[in-house]
Order: sequence, then C-alpha cells, then structure tokens
Amino acid sequence: MKVLLVGSGGREHAMAWRLAQSSKLTELLIAPGNAGTAEVGTNVPIGVDDHEDLVNFALDHEVDLVVVAPDQPIVDGLCDKLRAAAITTFGPSANAARIEGSKIWSNDLMTKYDIPTAESEAFSDSGAAMEFGHSWSEGSLVVKADGLAAGKGVMLPDTYEELDAAITGMLDDRTFGESSSSILLAERMQGPEASVFAFVDGEHVSAEIATCDYKRIGDDDTGLNTGGMGAYGPPEFWTADIAREVRETILQPVARALVAEDSSFSGVLYAGLMITESGPKVVEFNCRPGDPETQILMPMLETEFLDLCLAVAENRLSDIDVIWSDQPHVFVVAVSDGYPGSYSTGFEISGINEASSSGVVFHAGTTMNSEDELITSGGRVLGVSSTGTTIREARKAAYYGISKIDYEGIKYRSDIAERAVQD
Ligand code: AMP
Ligand code: GLY
Repeated sequence: MKVLLVGSGGREHAMAWRLAQSSKLTELLIAPGNAGTAEVGTNVPIGVDDHEDLVNFALDHEVDLVVVAPDQPIVDGLCDKLRAAAITTFGPSANAARIEGSKIWSNDLMTKYDIPTAESEAFSDSGAAMEFGHSWSEGSLVVKADGLAAGKGVMLPDTYEELDAAITGMLDDRTFGESSSSILLAERMQGPEASVFAFVDGEHVSAEIATCDYKRIGDDDTGLNTGGMGAYGPPEFWTADIAREVRETILQPVARALVAEDSSFSGVLYAGLMITESGPKVVEFNCRPGDPETQILMPMLETEFLDLCLAVAENRLSDIDVIWSDQPHVFVVAVSDGYPGSYSTGFEISGINEASSSGVVFHAGTTMNSEDELITSGGRVLGVSSTGTTIREARKAAYYGISKIDYEGIKYRSDIAERAVQD
C-alpha cells in the first residue's frame, strides 16, 4: 500500500515510524515531514494547509490511503476534500472536527447529551462576560477562546483583575484573532488530568488508552505553556473503574451524539479529562492524536497501525481489536533555548545513535543542512520515547537517551513522569 501522511511534527514521526512497520506498506510519503520522517519514508514538500496540492498529489501518485494528523487541516476540511476526490482517508470531517474547532459547539453538544464537563457560558460581549464572571468567586473560572489557538487559548485567572484582562484581551483586543471573537467562561475544575485516546468509527469506539502530558516549559509546571514537553502512561491514578466510567459516560455517548448530530466521527478521538471528586469530566475534546502523547501511543499500540487506519477509513473498525500495551512508557522532549518565546535554529545535533540505545528518538524541529548534517529547525526539536517494566525504568531510559543528545542551548524538563514513580 502507498500511504501519504500529512504533518511535520514529532507526532507525525511517531506515526510514520509505526506505519513503516507494516508488511502491507510499499511506500510511505510524508507531507511535509521532518528529518526523522525522511528516515522511514520520503518527504514531499507540500504544506499541511495546501489542500488542493495535497489532493492532486494523492491522485497523481495513486496513493491508497491518506492519514491526516494535525488539527488545522482537519478543522479546515482537508479530509472532506480528499474523500470528495474518492481518496481513502483516515481523519474526521470538518463537521465532526467542530468538537475541537469550536469549544462552544463542543460544550453545547456535551450539555445536550449529558456528557460530564465543566459548567460554562458563552459570550461575545466583554461587558456581559465580566458581569457574569464577577458573579462567581475569584479564581473559580477559566476563560477559553472558542476557536483553535495553537493550544494557548485557555487562561486560568486567579483574581477578578486577571479575569477582566483575559476577557477584554480575547474579546476586545482579539488576542487570538477570530478564534477569540467568542469565548467560554467555564467552571475551574480540580483534579489530576489525563489525555484519553480511542479510535472511533461512527458509534464504534475502540479500546481506549490513558496518558498524561506536560504543557508548561518549566519543572513543577512553571512558566509558559508549550506544545508539550513530555508524556507518560499509563497514569498512576488510572483504574479500571475510572476507565469504565469514562467509556460509559464520555466516549461512547459522545460518539453516538456526533452520529445523531450528522457529524459522525472517523479517526482518533482525544478526550482531555479531569478526574474530579465527582468523577471524570471533559476539559476538552480534540479531533486528532495528541502531540506529544502520540510519541508513546505508537510504541504502546500492539495492533498494526496501518490496518487500523485503513479499517477506520473504510468504516469497519468493529472488525479489529485494538490492543494497547500496559507497560509503562515515558517520552521526554528537548527544546531550543528560548522556546516557547523566540529562539535560534540551525545548530548541529549529535548523539542520536547513543540515544537510540535506550529508546526511540522522534524528531520534530529537525532538518538536514547543505552539508548533510542534522540541525535544529524548530522550538521542539526531538524527544526520546522509552519503555521499561516499571515507570522508574522507563523514565531512567528516556532520560539516559535525552542526556546523550547535544546541540547548542538544549533544554528539557527534568520531572517528566516523576510523580508516577511510587516507592
Ligand atoms: P485546553 O486547551 O482546553 O486543553 O486547556 C488547557 C489546559 O487548561 C488544560 O489542560 C487544563 O489544565 C486547563 N483547563 C482547561 N479547562 C479547564 C477547566 N474547566 N478547569 C480547570 N482547568 C482547565
Ligand atoms: N497534548 C496536547 C495536544 O495535543 O493538544
């Protein structure tokens, strides 16, 4: 089979690495890919937002399956355009992707179908939003931009002053452009967070897998939000009871709700959850596999990924058992100095071979220079994904691997999965 994978991050390298393990694969093309995907397939210089070029490329090259991973092209309807050209496609329609693309739409869906989430209210007028905000106690609300905002559209104000600034920033100053022309004020929930993933094909929801990711740049969750600094799984607080409740009250009902709303989901559904005192509740849904979670999901996935993508694309997921490893996995990301603010690129990267002795190195912001040397080209540069019989061992292996990588200004968090190590 000839497969085209759309995307260029660490998530896509992990997906490409897993697709390349299938005996059915004859050719893997990645648009646009990175230096890591080039090791397992052929990069094609087409951007993820160049929908027409992607469709034409898939037709011209007689691609058998297109797998779309990033949120923006999915929300913008790339999967619909591919299907309209009769191309077999893994990824949800724009209708279904509203579950991520509009927090207000997603919240209305959860309210209508009784899916547990934070109590919330939508606003497009800052005065009304501030008045509502002040009727709640200080620090008890979060402010969310309605649309996609590169993972940065949520503010957690501790005072009324910060709340007002967040509201006026989003609605009046359009901090996130059109994405913040409407906002949600939501009750601030408390509890450990998990990212839960399942393959979904209409009403069919596969076995799910729970992981945890780290969004802040600094140890102990300090500093600015990033695209993700690491992940581990399974979470230490995850139990069979929680898993059952999540399936019965969240995953299965939302898949049915999407079908009922003429927005049937096809792809990987990502439920960001908070395990509150009154049970698991949805923080947000995403319409695609998470980054950096996919860098442990792909090693944890025991079922052949290509078979699964094809089954979902052909609406026959119910024929396949999705099996996840329950062995601990840890992924640690290395970033450029200055990220998530401004940073320099172009630094030579060394140590990949040594790092590979203790895990899989997944590239994100890497490229080859004219001398054929591997250099940094982004904020999140690469990461090491490792496993072990205990979370302590998996963690040790991932940190051993990342310690072997070097480039100017390399930075990584030192506490990924630390809280899961129980003596
Ligand atoms: P999101 O982009 O919706 O995943 O939000 C980013 C982060 O903000 C989440 O991972 C949570 O830590 C936090 N957050 C979002 N919504 C809530 C909420 N209703 N209550 C508490 N924390 C939240
Ligand atoms: N792990 C966060 C995200 O993929 O949005």
